[in-house]
Amino acid sequence: MAKNKSGQSVPPTTTDAGIPIASEEHSLTVGPDGPIVLNDHYLLEQMANFNRERIPERQPHAKGSGAFGHFETTADISKYTSAKLFQPGVKTDVAMRFSTVAGERGSPDTWRDPRGFSVKFYTEDGNFDMVGNNTPIFFIRDPIKFQHFIRSQKRRADNGLRDHDMMWDFWTLSPESAHQVTYLMGDRGVPKNWREMNGYSSHTYMLQNAEGEKFWVKFHFHTDVGSMSGNAHLTQDEAVKKAGEDSDYHRRDLFDAIADGNFPSWTLKFQIMPYEDAKTYRINPFDLTKTWPHADYPLIEVGKLTLNENPVDWDTQIEQLAFEPNNMVPGIGLSPDKMLLARGFSYADAHRHRLGVNYKQIPVNSARNAEVSSYSRAGAMRVTNAVDPVYAPNSYGGPAADPSLVGDAGHFYADGDMVREAYTLRKDDDDWSQARALINDVMDEEQRKRFVSNVVGHLSDGVSEKVLVRAFEYWRNVDDAIGEKIEKGVRDKIGGKSKAPGMASAKSISGQK
Ligand code: HEM
Repeated sequence: MAKNKSGQSVPPTTTDAGIPIASEEHSLTVGPDGPIVLNDHYLLEQMANFNRERIPERQPHAKGSGAFGHFETTADISKYTSAKLFQPGVKTDVAMRFSTVAGERGSPDTWRDPRGFSVKFYTEDGNFDMVGNNTPIFFIRDPIKFQHFIRSQKRRADNGLRDHDMMWDFWTLSPESAHQVTYLMGDRGVPKNWREMNGYSSHTYMLQNAEGEKFWVKFHFHTDVGSMSGNAHLTQDEAVKKAGEDSDYHRRDLFDAIADGNFPSWTLKFQIMPYEDAKTYRINPFDLTKTWPHADYPLIEVGKLTLNENPVDWDTQIEQLAFEPNNMVPGIGLSPDKMLLARGFSYADAHRHRLGVNYKQIPVNSARNAEVSSYSRAGAMRVTNAVDPVYAPNSYGGPAADPSLVGDAGHFYADGDMVREAYTLRKDDDDWSQARALINDVMDEEQRKRFVSNVVGHLSDGVSEKVLVRAFEYWRNVDDAIGEKIEKGVRDKIGGKSKAPGMASAKSISGQK
């Protein structure tokens, strides 16, 4: 044992190789006033380790935090899915992470943005990841626009600043964004905390039962805390104030609540659509910018998700946590939603960059409740031993696929020429009417006032005249009266026409100095 400065007996400090070291205060020098020598192994190790402590931040959703707990299936929904975690009474360990989308790792929790709502279920059949948001829909419906959308929310090339002009430029040139921008400018754009917030798969997934029958499903996680509406919010003024006072406001709230034994929980409900309905339903059920009215497909209660354990090492348990929508277990599958299918590729690619090829061996990402017997091997930071035979098929007792599994849900009929085209329009597929219904039928008078005031505030802050004019048109398309109110509010606030310059038109980058 060694003695620390308070006289306590403590284990001796060692290098990472376990070798006890002689000083934490003095580097090894040639005489007390002489230069430092290169064989001070401990000093070099500390400097080198420190320089590598930060892993790349997530491209979107960099700022967030999370916790651990369990999910318990309380209802019998076996007629819809054979997934083991959704059989009555089954309790499954979970890891969860909440996040903002556009801000960087140190950005304020209370910036207006959708919130990520990611759940990793450690099931007996491997890990199932539900990587959703606090809104039931999204800004775009084709993944080819995703990178551009995120760039428009992040920072400009020249001044490195976020810029409302480029946000509205993108949104108003992408009318499919109207429904989600309406959510964003409403109360859900700044939740009061993560505990009183709903979560959604947003996408349509597939379920398959033991007989092989298929269904389409949307996941809704309704908070059990507070008002239970999922809309507990901060006003824009409160959010701005909090951003200055405590940029980690939501992270702190979750950690403190769990540390105090005040465990947040959510009730999971499914919206189920029979497989055949998708062909004729009046709204394309795979279009991520649309919800399914509850009157058509009511919510069915499934179970309860509870968070009751904080991380002990935030970096290894939360920052290195890796979710991917293609982590599906038998009984659950993807759907023809183009966004979901693209996400199936994107996340694992992001993790290989951010965490390395063997990221699934990091304890928080490993399939802790399932036997892993894959043929992946070697690569940087592989820590489990491969065993022979290292190939399949083989006649030496290596793992073999089981064709009898009712796995591989996510098979759906697809046929046609290869094209670059939007989804075929259905009777009620337009970009404005669900946004209109959200404002007029779902929001109450106070919520509507806050919504208009948030849009007016946002548009009055650095949006150029040409983009403003398009923005007024965009809101008039949603609802004439709301559009008028927004235009009047902005004109009054900025005193007539906008003087914001927007950005200079694009120049060629060839020949730049
Ligand atoms: C994070 C891509 C759409 C929810 C990410 C990350 C990428 C990404 C690369 C960072 C992953 C990491 O480094 O760990 C995409 C692409 C999309 C898309 C390509 C569309 C084609 C969506 C949608 C939702 C969503 C529609 C919600 C319904 C999230 C969440 C995270 C995330 C919650 C953070 C996960 C975490 O907590 O670690 N996305 N995304 N994304 N995305 Fe997406």
